[in-house]
Amino acid sequence: MHKYFVKYVICFCLLLCTQEMNSTKFETLDKRYHLVSEAYHRAKTLFIQGRTQYDKLKERSLSTMDMFLDLVEILNEHMSQELRSAIVKYYKIKFLHDFNNYVINMEEIMDIIEHCLIGPTEKLAFVRNQFHNMIKNFEDVRNFDTVDKCHDELPDEVSAAHCILHQAVLFNETMQDSLVSIVEMKTKQHARDVNASLYEVPPCLNYFVPHFFNQLLVDSFSDNCEFMRVVNASMVDFTSDKWRNNFEALFPKKWGPLILTLKEKGKTQGIKYIQEHT
Ligand SMILES: *[C@@H]1O[C@H](CO)[C@@H](O)[C@H](O)[C@H]1NC(C)=O
Ligand SMILES: *[C@@H]1O[C@H](CO)[C@@H](O)[C@H](O)[C@H]1NC(C)=O
Ligand SMILES: *[C@@H]1O[C@H](CO)[C@@H](O)[C@H](O)[C@H]1NC(C)=O
Repeated sequence: MHKYFVKYVICFCLLLCTQEMNSTKFETLDKRYHLVSEAYHRAKTLFIQGRTQYDKLKERSLSTMDMFLDLVEILNEHMSQELRSAIVKYYKIKFLHDFNNYVINMEEIMDIIEHCLIGPTEKLAFVRNQFHNMIKNFEDVRNFDTVDKCHDELPDEVSAAHCILHQAVLFNETMQDSLVSIVEMKTKQHARDVNASLYEVPPCLNYFVPHFFNQLLVDSFSDNCEFMRVVNASMVDFTSDKWRNNFEALFPKKWGPLILTLKEKGKTQGIKYIQEHT
């Protein structure tokens, strides 16, 4: 165990030392190569900037997606609860009937409801998982060591500097572009899928129990439902956020306080917040 540990530490040091040597190939250059060292530092700055922005974009896209999904999850749960309690209330007075005047007992209707409510819940979990995996798989694949090949151009200072600057332009070419496009595409697609899964609940219920909503007099999952209007409005903001060039993070700014209220203070305060702000 101890032996392995020592070996491991030695390997690790070797790795660090070689990396150190690589990255100082240009840094220890003679002062007379002023142009080269200038180009080198510029390339390094652009490289580091690119990596920082890339990581930031990944973090922000994840946290924004999570916020959106948290909000829809809470609203979905409220609407689901509304449906369940409406059923319980209704059954205290009378029974639901299907079109053949068949009396649907409470157990049956609860099964039907859960069957129709599983769609949005599963979709939300699926989207969260998929988006996280996708972002995790994105990596800044630029490699700073590519400037080292410019060392071969020495002692011709101009050629070496030119070579490094060429690498710098490549570093600067926003690696982010492909990530930004994917994030924009995926947020739109996921929002559409989540939205569709919510709108599928009423047809599902009406399929099993015709005139379900008319019999029960609830508006959960319909356009008249306050929560659905919140879903719609938040979705519009979520999908129109700009991700390119220090994008405007409108969604977290606008919806963060409501999400916090819903999470921390619960439904009643959340509804009050919705009524005051929408
Ligand atoms: C880096 O990219 C920015 C934005 O695209 C551009 O304004 C700048 O001139 C570029 N710098 C270099 C050294 O390529
Ligand atoms: C959703 O929001 C858009 C834009 O604000 C609005 O035009 C549309 O009527 C809304 N739809 C529903 C169902 O609330
Ligand atoms: C959600 O889906 C409904 C029904 O298809 C549609 O009317 C509504 O505009 C959609 N909302 C958004 C924000 O796309």
